[in-house]
Amino acid sequence: MKKIISAIMILAFVSYVFMIPINLIGDNHDNCKKIIEDKKCNACHPVESLGIEAKQKNPKTIGPDFSKTQLAGDFEFLKKYLIKEEKFHDKLHPVKFSGNNDELEALVNCLAELAPKPESEENNETQE
Ligand code: HEC
Repeated sequence: MKKIISAIMILAFVSYVFMIPINLIGDNHDNCKKIIEDKKCNACHPVESLGIEAKQKNPKTIGPDFSKTQLAGDFEFLKKYLIKEEKFHDKLHPVKFSGNNDELEALVNCLAELAPKPESEENNETQE
């Protein structure tokens, strides 16, 4: 009997611990969706993983999907790029970010979160 009770306790504890990060990720994705839409990045950028479609479809001016960007890990560079102080592929970003520094910070964190994770990192997480 004791064994069953402790098994249930362990199970409850484990699922509780695992639910926390899942909830956080969910909330954060909602925040990211909001900030991307607030700042109108979705005028030009689709974000497939958040179900965001770019407002414009012109292949010449549409931006890359945030779930596929390679720049996402490079926080300092991204911040400068978004305020047009840094060039990527020899070009400045077409628009200058219009929010304050906190918003820029939040946005860059979102980009990092939305970007594809390297395979190895994901494997490490699931192997425990
Ligand atoms: C007027 C259209 C437009 C808007 C609005 C816009 N972007 Fe862009 N963005 C682009 C285009 C076009 C590129 C590709 C530029 C290039 O490759 O030189 C780009 C590139 C980027 C990149 C580099 C991605 C990569 O991997 O190449 C990031 C990151 C980015 N934008 C973030 C944002 C964020 C965040 C916002 C909202 C604050 C935003 N953009 C708003 C058009 C736009």
